[in-house]
Amino acid sequence: MSIWRVKPVSAFEADMKKSQLKRVLGKWSLTAIGVGAIIGGGIFVLTGTGAYYHAGPALAISFIIAGIACVFAALCYSEFASILPVEGSAYAYAYGTIGEIFAWIIGWGLILEYAMGSMTVAVSWSGYFNKLLKLFGVKLPDWLTTDPASYTGEGFSMNLPAFLIVLFVISILIKGTSSAAKANNFIVILKVSAVLFVIIAGAFFINAENWDPFIPAATQIVEKETTHNAYGIAGIISGAAAIFFAYVGFDAVSTQAGEAVNPKKDVPFAIIASLLICTVLYILVSLVLTGMMNYQDFNPLGKYPEAIKAPVAYAFDIAGQGWAGFIITIAATVGLISVLMVMIMGQSRIFLGMSKDGLIPSVFSRINPTSGTPQTNLMILGGFIAVVAAFTPISKLADMTSFGTLFAFTMVCIAVWILRVKQPNLTRTFKVPALPIIAISGILINTYLMINLSVEAQMLSLGWLAIGIVVYFLYGKRNSKLENQE
Ligand code: ALA
Repeated sequence: MSIWRVKPVSAFEADMKKSQLKRVLGKWSLTAIGVGAIIGGGIFVLTGTGAYYHAGPALAISFIIAGIACVFAALCYSEFASILPVEGSAYAYAYGTIGEIFAWIIGWGLILEYAMGSMTVAVSWSGYFNKLLKLFGVKLPDWLTTDPASYTGEGFSMNLPAFLIVLFVISILIKGTSSAAKANNFIVILKVSAVLFVIIAGAFFINAENWDPFIPAATQIVEKETTHNAYGIAGIISGAAAIFFAYVGFDAVSTQAGEAVNPKKDVPFAIIASLLICTVLYILVSLVLTGMMNYQDFNPLGKYPEAIKAPVAYAFDIAGQGWAGFIITIAATVGLISVLMVMIMGQSRIFLGMSKDGLIPSVFSRINPTSGTPQTNLMILGGFIAVVAAFTPISKLADMTSFGTLFAFTMVCIAVWILRVKQPNLTRTFKVPALPIIAISGILINTYLMINLSVEAQMLSLGWLAIGIVVYFLYGKRNSKLENQE
């Protein structure tokens, strides 16, 4: 059956030799790309929900669990990147192992992670930008900051800041990977400093009583018509799924392999280094936050109804340090630009890989010889992301981004194991230790987190994958280069 055909590793190597992308990214730029994609709104926003509805002070353990799920996946990504340092990431890894239809489904699922992730990040950037303007006494009218479906007034409305930030990011990406990496390095320094600031300044306001009990007894939170199961061990695990979005992004490093100077060594290094740096920062932020403010004070129906929306800034407000909120708002506003940049760059490179294989139209693999970037690809993608971010209530669908990511992680864990069995003698500059234990653990924990996401996100994501299968049979399968070679 031709849908199961596998692209040979030699064909990937031949593609790499022909690649017109410029190899400009060193080890630390790649690591900064990972950190640039990981640290975003997630850590500043989801921590309140994670503490109040799920884990209590044990939120730090939720971050460790989600971090471990990511480390298993990161190790598997790293082995692949050391064999197939190509831009398609999980899509390409599946094409080289499981078969074309799976590769397609993963590529299609990655649209949820990268393109949809970009749309939700653009909308949350707009939220932070408006907050920042308000701090300077400027307020944009609602009709310029709200998508039409969420707008309660009459007449035209759009989320203009979300629209413009996407165009701005595209204009940087089009210029070239080298200048985009420089901008990213700058932003990463800024946002890591802000996170360190939160940890160090916040440590002075910790009240250790807030950590007691560290794992509150399992209970049910009844709120309006809904009941949430919270706390205890189950709460820690559901907390890990709830904050998973904060980790999304390190795998974007693997989409840059085609532009790395020394991909087989540096991409595995950068994937693991960026993840470990952020995991440590996240654990510390969650400890500080739950130490500064009692987890029950994040109750939206309690005495601080606004706290859950911006928990980190709020905790500083309550500690009488309102200026900290100012720094966090600036860091998040600037920091989200690099998340957006890396996400869009990642999506464009996955489309580039799929287009080279004929599975999507060839316009996505056209490289501009001067800038060395897939310009048309970026422009089509950017236009699409900007319009959806400006005109739809996309931010409600952030969980679908986590679904797409967890799905890809699970598949990469499966694929690395298959390739080890099928082709044990391939040269691997990085090898997953203790395979298959790591791969199996990665498959189990990532699948488990996936089924702990909201049912709505699961249904919508499965619907999206089903549409993908139809598109594959209508377009991808017929135009596949492997089909034509056969
Ligand atoms: N991990 C990124 C964020 O938290 C997507 O914004």
